[in-house]
This record gives sequence, structure tokens and C-alpha cells, in this order.
Amino acid sequence: MSAQAEQEQVVPSTAPRFSGGPAPQSTAPGADPARAVAAALRPLDNARLRGEYVDQGSFLYLSEFLPADATQQLIDAARALLPEVNRNYLPGHKAGGSVSRHTIDRLAPYIAQLYRSPELIAWLEKITGDRLQLSPQDDPHAYALYYYTRAGDHIGWHYDTSYYDGRRYTVLFGVIDDSSCTLDYELHTRDDSRSDQPGSVQYPPGSLVLFDGDKLRHRVTPAAEGEMRVSLTFEYVTNPNMRPWRRFISNMKDAIAYFGFRQVFRKAILAGRRGGGTGGESA
Ligand SMILES: [Fe+2]
Repeated sequence: MSAQAEQEQVVPSTAPRFSGGPAPQSTAPGADPARAVAAALRPLDNARLRGEYVDQGSFLYLSEFLPADATQQLIDAARALLPEVNRNYLPGHKAGGSVSRHTIDRLAPYIAQLYRSPELIAWLEKITGDRLQLSPQDDPHAYALYYYTRAGDHIGWHYDTSYYDGRRYTVLFGVIDDSSCTLDYELHTRDDSRSDQPGSVQYPPGSLVLFDGDKLRHRVTPAAEGEMRVSLTFEYVTNPNMRPWRRFISNMKDAIAYFGFRQVFRKAILAGRRGGGTGGESA
């Protein structure tokens, strides 16, 4: 991809606050992400949770969050998307499968609508204390499903590094967990005033994990034979602008480690088929 094409994919900082593209319409009867989020938020003590989040160095775990019918929507979507999973293997670091937001947009609009829920975003802003924006339309991580379906599927210790000019927040929902995998983490690793604090959760369907990607060191331990685990991730940012060289690094990482070159560079591929450049293709 040319430097010019990279430049043209950068989202201007003046973009509308929620610029992640139009939400696909759900066709599933009874699917109502707004009602699901309202039910999830009703019992929560936000002041207490905000305190917990700050005390844990920008990390929060809720073992119960989504109502059962919403969780079932996610389980059904995760199973329906099994044929779409892109398998990846990075020796010594990662093995597993992923379904990107581009595929979710086509085949699982409930998830896309849940990601854009204004009530959910407003609640995340209360907990994080930041003004959040949707990830740009060409970011395959904006919402994605991660699959651990073969023995040894895992991801090693890492941060969800922000390649954006601002912070990047990760939300994880448990979807399917017939596995022995755990999400292991270490709090405060980038805070010299506090000692590192290890933790581990095996987050079940309907649970929620929220953290600042640059602050939480974490991994998912290997799946055993015959196990299956699926999690859903949402990514929100405080500034969706990304400099061209960071865009290149981020795209290469996503193509190799997660979604494949076709998904990550789909705009360039589509433009190439039409005989044009990527100009005018940006989100
Ligand atoms: Fe991660």
C-alpha cells in the first residue's frame, strides 16, 4: 500500500464523534441491544465501580453484566460465524481464530448495534472518565470475535497497544466458555508508585471486562483438547487519528496475527479490482 493511500485512510480529528459508519439493521426478531444495555446497567452502582476501576489501574471485571437473552444472541452469532473464522498462528505467542468487524457487519448486525449503543458508551465514559469515540470504520478490531477451538489456542502476555493518537479501551464480553482457559493479568505494571498485582478470571458468558489497553498486561492461557471458548471484544478510542507509519504497523500486525490480508487491506483490494487507487475509499 502506498504512503499516499495510508495517508488517505487516516480519519481526521474533526470527524463526528461517533464516526464508525452506519449501524447495520438487525433482522433477528426481538433483538434489541438498547433494552439489553438498559437492563444490564440498571442494578449497577456506578460510583462504586468507578472507584474500583481507578483503584485497579484502569481495570474492571463484572462477572454478570448482559441479560440472558442478550448473551444468547451473542452465543447464536458466535456459532453461526464459525465458518467465517480466520485461523492464525504466531509461534511462541498466539494461536486461535478471529472474525473481524467487517464480517460481523455482514452477518451479525446485533453485535454491531450493541457496539454503537449510546447508553453503553455513556456508561463506559462514566467508568473510565474519558470521552469515548467509536473506532474508525477500517479498524477490524472495532468489534471482533476471538475463537479458541483447538488444543493449544492461546495468546501470550501483551498489552492492547494503542496505535491511535489517543487512548484505546478494550471491552471483553464472555460468549462461550467450555474451556479451562483463563484471562491472566497484571495490574499497575506501568505505575511506578504501585507494585504489580497479578489476577486471573475465567470470564463466563455474559460477563464484562473493561481496561485501558496500554495499562493492562494480560494473556489467555492455552485451551485443552475438545475445549471451546469465544469472547467478543469492543474497542473504543479517545482520538481516532492514526499517523501513517503507525497505521502501517497496525495493519501488518492485524493481517498476520488476526484477520488475514484480505480483511485488513480490503479497501485496497476492492479498489485494485476496480482499477482505481484507494483515494475516496476512506471511511
Ligand atoms: Fe489483548
